[in-house]
Amino acid sequence: MWPTCQNVSKCVAASLGRRLHRVHTSSRRRCNVAAFMPEAAGFEGVSDRSTLQEFSVSSSESFWAAAARHRVDWISPFHLVQDCDLSRGKIRWFGGGKLNVSVNCLDRHVHTCPERVALIWERDEPGSEVKVTYRQLLEMTCRLGNLLKRRGVRRGDCITIYMPPCPLAVASMLACARIGASHNVVFAGFSAEALAERIRDAQSSTVITVNQGVRGGRVTELKKTVDEAVQSCPIVRQVFVAMRTENPVAWTARDVAMEEEMLAEEEVCEPAAMDSEDVLFLLYTSGSTGKPKGLVHTQAGYLLYAALTHRYVFGYHDGDVFGCVADIGWITGHSYSVYGPLANGGTTVLFESTPIYPDPGRYWEMVQRLKINQFYGAPTAIRLLLKYGDQWVQKYDRSTLKTLGSVGEPINTEAWEWYHRVVGDGRCPVVDTWWQTETGGICISPRPSDPGAEIVPGMAMRPFFGINPVLIDTEGNVLTSNHTSGALCISQPWPGMARTIHNDHQRFIETYFRPHPGYFFTGDGAYRSQEGYYQITGRLDDVINVSGHRIGTAEIEDVVNQCPIVAESAVIGYSHDIKGQGVYAFVVLKQGVDIKAADVLRQLNDTVSKKIAKYACPDCIQVIFVQHLPKTRSGKIMRRVLRKVVERDLEGLGDLTTMDDPAAVEEIIQGHHDLW
Ligand code: WTA
Repeated sequence: MWPTCQNVSKCVAASLGRRLHRVHTSSRRRCNVAAFMPEAAGFEGVSDRSTLQEFSVSSSESFWAAAARHRVDWISPFHLVQDCDLSRGKIRWFGGGKLNVSVNCLDRHVHTCPERVALIWERDEPGSEVKVTYRQLLEMTCRLGNLLKRRGVRRGDCITIYMPPCPLAVASMLACARIGASHNVVFAGFSAEALAERIRDAQSSTVITVNQGVRGGRVTELKKTVDEAVQSCPIVRQVFVAMRTENPVAWTARDVAMEEEMLAEEEVCEPAAMDSEDVLFLLYTSGSTGKPKGLVHTQAGYLLYAALTHRYVFGYHDGDVFGCVADIGWITGHSYSVYGPLANGGTTVLFESTPIYPDPGRYWEMVQRLKINQFYGAPTAIRLLLKYGDQWVQKYDRSTLKTLGSVGEPINTEAWEWYHRVVGDGRCPVVDTWWQTETGGICISPRPSDPGAEIVPGMAMRPFFGINPVLIDTEGNVLTSNHTSGALCISQPWPGMARTIHNDHQRFIETYFRPHPGYFFTGDGAYRSQEGYYQITGRLDDVINVSGHRIGTAEIEDVVNQCPIVAESAVIGYSHDIKGQGVYAFVVLKQGVDIKAADVLRQLNDTVSKKIAKYACPDCIQVIFVQHLPKTRSGKIMRRVLRKVVERDLEGLGDLTTMDDPAAVEEIIQGHHDLW
C-alpha cells in the first residue's frame, strides 16, 4: 500500500470532529475547499474533498450548476441543469444554454495569455518538437473554419478526420466546433475498409487527412488509404490533405491542398452559438456485436466533464505541461490531449511516436526535454518498458513529474510498482483511471482525494465528483455491502456521458440501460474492497482489450469468417504478458482445404489487418479438424469452454451436458495441449 499516512475514513472522521469548533473552523474549512475548487465555496456543510464528493452525488444539480457557471464561458446561460431519464436513455444537461467549445478552448485564453504554449507537437523524430501558442492555434482554427465554410460545410455536418496526432488535427477538431459541424476522428491505424464503414455511417461528405504519416521511423500511406476508402463512399465530395512529409502523393479532383488554401482565408472566424446538446463529435468504438457504434457526445456537458476531470484527477495547475501519450483517435486523446487541457488553458503534448522509438528511453527523454509534469499512458507500454530495464528510465531527469496516470486496461501490480518506484522515484502518485468512450471522462480514480490519501496499487479506488457507482449481482440486486463483486453500473447521470449511438438510439438503450433498468451499465465487472475502494475486474461481455485498444471478438470473427479457407471460427481474448489480452482464434477450415497452421495464421492476419487494423490480428490460432466448434444443442458456440481450455483450467470446464458433440472439446483440449 502506498502511502499509508492517511486514509479516507480517517479524513472523514477528522472532519466530523472539527465541526465541534464551529465558528473558528467553518471559515477555515470553507477556505480549504474553496482553495481547492472555488465553485465549491458556497456548498453547505462541505468541509473537505470527501464531503465534497458526497455533496456532488446527493446534490448533483447544485454541484454541476456551480461547476458549469464557473468553468464554461456561456454565450447565453442555461436555465435547466438537467433533464434525464436513464430508463429511456434520455440525457440532457444545461438546457437553454448556448456556447462555443472552440471559444472555451481558445479565445478566452488568447485574451489573457496569447503567447502561452497550447500544443507541443512531439514529432516522431526526437528533438524536433513544434510549439504552438494559443494565438497561433486560434488563427489556424479560424482559417480552417473559414475554409470549411467556403467549401460548403454547414452547421450540423459531420467531418471525418483521419490523421495522427498533430496541431492541424487539433485545429480540425476545433474548426468543426467553431462552425457548428461535428467531427468523427478515426484512428489512423484503421484500414481503408474500417475507415469507409465509419465515413458511411457518419455520412461525412468531407474527410481531412495528411499525405503520409510518420511513426516509429516508418512512413504510412494515409492519403492512399483514404483514396481507397472513399471508393466505396459516394457521399465524399472532398478530401482535405495536409502535408506531414514533403513527399508528393497521387492527387484527385476532390482533393484540397489544406495548408495552401488556409493561407488565403481570414484569420477571424465568427464562432457559431451552439446549444448545449448539439453534437460535438461521434467516436466509433467496439461493442459485443460485429458493427462498431458511433457514440455521440455533445457540447457543454462533455467539455465541462473533460475540463474538471483533467484539472482534479491529475492535479493540473496553470503552467504545467501535460503529457498524455494516447492517440487522438481514441477517447483518451479527445478528452486529455485536446478538450480537457485546452479548456483549462493548459499546455498539452501531442505524441506522434511510439514508446520504443528510437529506443526504450523515448518517453523519459521526452519528459526531461519538455519538462512534463503529468504523464498519462497505458499499462501495455509500461509492461513493455519494464522488460527493457530501469536504466532507460534512470538515464533521464524526471524531477518535473508530479502525477503519473494509467488508462485503458487493468494495470497489474508489478507494472504499477515499477511505474511508481522507478519512473516516479516513489514520489508521484499513480492514478489508475477507469472510464470508457461512453463516459466521456474519468469516472473512478484515486484522486481527487486529499493529497497523501492512500492509493492501493492496481485499484482505480474512488468515484469522481458526481459519480455514484453501484455493483449489481446476476439476479439484478444492488449489492450494498463491501468486499463484494458485481456488474459495475452508475446510478445517476453526469454531464460527460454519451447521449446516444449515432442512428441507433434503440441500441443505446438496449446496451446500456436495459440490462439493469434505471442504471447505466458499463459492461465491466468490479470488486469493492472492505474499505469501499473499487477495482475493475474486466469486461463482462465479448469485448476484449488488446494493448489498451478495445475490440469486439464478434467483429474479428465476422472478418475471419470472410477468409475463403474458413468454414467457421470463434475468437476469444487470452491473458498476454505485454498486451494485457491477446487474440486467440479457433478456426474450422472448409472441407478439402489443406494448409499449414502458420499459413492459416498469415492469411487470417492479412484479412484482419486489411478489414480492421493490425492490432486486431490473432496472435494465436488453433485449427480444428472436427466438423465444427463446440456448441450447445441450440447451436451457440461455447466460448466459455474455449476460454477455460486456453486458460488451462480444465477443472473449470463446468457443465458440458448441453453440448451437442463432446468430441469437439476433446480435440480442442488435445490440440491446445500440443501447443504448450
Ligand atoms: C477498460 C478507454 C481497468 C474497461 C478510456 C472499459 C479499464 C474499457 C481501465 C473502455 C482501467 C479502461 N482499469 N480497465 N483503469 N480503463 N478500462 O472505450 O474494460 O477505449 O470498459 O476507453 O477499457 O475502453 P475505451
